[in-house]
Amino acid sequence: MKIAVAGDHGGFRLKNEVIRLLRESGIEFEDFGTFSEEPADYPDFALAVAEAVGGGKFERGILCCGTGIGVAVAANKVPGIRAAQCHDTFSARASREHNNANILTMGQRVIGPGLAGDIVKTWLQAEFQGGRHARRVKKISSIEQKYSRC
Ligand code: RB5
Repeated sequence: MKIAVAGDHGGFRLKNEVIRLLRESGIEFEDFGTFSEEPADYPDFALAVAEAVGGGKFERGILCCGTGIGVAVAANKVPGIRAAQCHDTFSARASREHNNANILTMGQRVIGPGLAGDIVKTWLQAEFQGGRHARRVKKISSIEQKYSRC
């Protein structure tokens, strides 16, 4: 599995923790920035990861900002993206099993690195359950298609 990772200045340290965990676990990833704590605009990094995942070059993405909200909102504008902000392991698992989330977002100002690590591990291990959930995720795609024609 290849993971696209990015975040703004508000998620810089959390993104580094995520990268450390991916490296330790031998999971392939690419870091799309930002590369310092200098102020940077979160939609730029959300777009880079969302396009990498939506375009099929990466199976999944992980985005960090101060809250995990801005990157989720921005990433979800890209067709094919289901970005889920998760700050607990229950939601992380459900976002995969029920919503087939392909991007995980987290906020550095909300959770610590220990919990973030558990969330990432849970999210990467959980699989989409399909069945009734597939029908619902298909309906999400239909909404996207309906408005892409406008
Ligand atoms: C940056 O200050 C902050 O607004 C950003 O990291 C994020 O939390 C936005 O949703």
